Amino acid sequence: MENDVSINPARRDFLYYATAGAGTVAVGAAIWPLINQMNPSADVLALSSIRVDVSGVEPGTQLTIMLSGKPVFIRHRTEEEINQARSEELSDLPDTSARNPNLVGEDTAADENRVVPGHDAFLVMIGVCTHLGCVPLGNGAGDFGGWFCPCHGSHYDTAGRIRKGPAPENLHIPVMSVSDGLVLTLG
Ligand code: FES
Repeated sequence: MENDVSINPARRDFLYYATAGAGTVAVGAAIWPLINQMNPSADVLALSSIRVDVSGVEPGTQLTIMLSGKPVFIRHRTEEEINQARSEELSDLPDTSARNPNLVGEDTAADENRVVPGHDAFLVMIGVCTHLGCVPLGNGAGDFGGWFCPCHGSHYDTAGRIRKGPAPENLHIPVMSVSDGLVLTLG
């Protein structure tokens, strides 16, 4: 099942709720528990592939979409965020795996191995904490300027790599491809 989603660049941070009719819910990640209570229908949860035009996502903003019942973060990083991620020593990372199924074989968690190919400013990650599955807060949250999971205090950096707290792994990258014009196919 596949669905198309367009971005309204006038808005900064949404959750696009992927229904067959491309319905939109303009709320942030904090709404996730509420959405869970709404008990999404089986066809929504089963949605396994989605196309998203991210060309309108401004630097320094994040879009959240739903894929197979999970949030996926799409962040257009600033130069500062990219530089910060690339200045880190791999030896300082608790998890040195890229956690990127789009790479052939196992690769390191270097920033270059976690970004959208050819578009280093874009980071796309499954928005599920690798500790016990909460949805981390974004937009520079936490001690490392990336994402923060308030459930038990896991801090992720600007490449979505775990830096502090109980989460054992970096935020995972979903299966994806990118076409001209910055249209991502996820799943
Ligand atoms: S679920 Fe995120 S820190 Fe425990």
